[in-house]
Amino acid sequence: MVPALKAYYITTPLYYVNAKPHLGHAYTNVLCDTFARFQKFLGHEVFFLTGTDEHGEKIERAARAAGTEPRAYVEAIVPHFKELWAKLGVQYDFFIRTTDAQHARIVQRVLRELVQKGDIYSAAYEGWYCTPCESFWTTLQLLEGACPDCRREVKHLAEENYFFKLSKYQGWLISHINTHPDVIVPASRRAEVLSFLERPLEDLCITRPRERLSWGIPFPISEKFVVYVWFDALLNYVTAVRFGEDEAFFRRHWPADVHVVGKDILRQHAVYWPIMLHAMGVEPPKTLIAHGWWTIEGAKVSKSRGNVVDPLALADIYGVDAFRYFLLREVQVGQDGSYSEQLVAQRFEEDLANDLGNLVSRTLAMIERYEGGRYPGYSGAGGSATLAPLLAGLRQALERAMASFDPRAALVAIWELVHGANREIDRVKPWELARKGEEAKLELSQFLGLLGEVLRLVGAALASFLPNASQLILSQLGVSGTPVVADLSERHALAKGRPLTKPAALFPKEAAGERAREARGEK
Ligand code: MSP
Repeated sequence: MVPALKAYYITTPLYYVNAKPHLGHAYTNVLCDTFARFQKFLGHEVFFLTGTDEHGEKIERAARAAGTEPRAYVEAIVPHFKELWAKLGVQYDFFIRTTDAQHARIVQRVLRELVQKGDIYSAAYEGWYCTPCESFWTTLQLLEGACPDCRREVKHLAEENYFFKLSKYQGWLISHINTHPDVIVPASRRAEVLSFLERPLEDLCITRPRERLSWGIPFPISEKFVVYVWFDALLNYVTAVRFGEDEAFFRRHWPADVHVVGKDILRQHAVYWPIMLHAMGVEPPKTLIAHGWWTIEGAKVSKSRGNVVDPLALADIYGVDAFRYFLLREVQVGQDGSYSEQLVAQRFEEDLANDLGNLVSRTLAMIERYEGGRYPGYSGAGGSATLAPLLAGLRQALERAMASFDPRAALVAIWELVHGANREIDRVKPWELARKGEEAKLELSQFLGLLGEVLRLVGAALASFLPNASQLILSQLGVSGTPVVADLSERHALAKGRPLTKPAALFPKEAAGERAREARGEK
């Protein structure tokens, strides 16, 4: 039997449903969507997972504050996430909710097996508890009496609980990370995890007494407890691909190729999760990407700081593609990004409306005027020493950038071509060639053919990043269907004589103009 091909499996974190999604959440999902689309562009089967983390104290408290039950509360919040993903063109394959029956069933089975294996034990716990982080700390771990992660107040607790033997597998994890350099990226985060692992790991408390918290998956060993929200949530990455229930489906997806998370949840993903999998006898994921935070005036964008930015509103003003472009172009994956609407407006006006938008509209307008709206054919980029290497190298530049999870570098490569073409137009001055009449007719046609080829490549190359602009550019060239990597070759150049459509503005400035001026403080 021929073994089934493995799909490229990429995941986002599961978002807490204690509030509506904000800019930080939009970033993670746009990033994952871009990686997923790029793999499809390369011709791979993709399974892209996102979803919501619905249990735990955070959610129970938020529900109570809203005067409702947790179940009713999460039902009301989940649609906001789905609406945002639809709006931003985030094409996931499965949306998991930790309240799904399949998820709870598999989590309970895993727990029973780990108890049988002797990796879970019960013990008395006395120490400090941070409610927002849902984490236990020893007195030594506290920072000036506060939670070492979020610096907020902790409370003293003494209770019986169940613990997972993280410490038993610490040696294995260290050697796994040491022998797999790409298991955590960027390298600075890998170093951070290795340094965290220099100290002995504490076993992980994986239950919460029901009398203190009832909103969780029932702990299958004792009805006095529910499962700790992180132990429940991390397992989503395998429950979504039917671990232990559908072997063929699981094998087709696992191990995950990429988990994308923010740097604040690195330890859970780089330490707890691979150890949980190892204890379960399951291979660890291939790569964990930890991205940075979006900040406003130095502070992390977050619900608790009250400085949230509504991604839906931004996408409405500037358009979905401009919003995606800003997120992907402004920071390198792994670095923090500083958000301001002025920066979004600037990217919109300069890179999108001026550079890309003008290139498309003036090229199509010249083909309309000088060639009667018919594509003059592509005879190679030989005549243009600047454009020839950019056209020939685009595929490799994209593949190289995306292999190192760097969509920013991919966009920079595409824009080199856009800038190069704009500069060539200014140098060649097709309008002067047109004035010369018959004598320059061939030169003019060849140059417009070259520009058309640039647009075709830019349109195809943008597919994973700015899907709408990509479609609009290609449809104006009369090209239909979803582009694939093979399109980035002159073998697929458009046929001479093909009718092109009338230019339509890609990034209409009027809609965003007023807001942009406001953001610059001009009004
Ligand atoms: N529920 C957990 C994750 C469980 S995964 C099995 C959680 N949820 S969260 O809603 O608080 O955060 C989800 C993701 O959003 C995290 O990766 C986090 O880093 C990201 N962001 C939240 N605020 C952010 C910014 N201001 N900037 C960038 N991303 C940030 O943690």
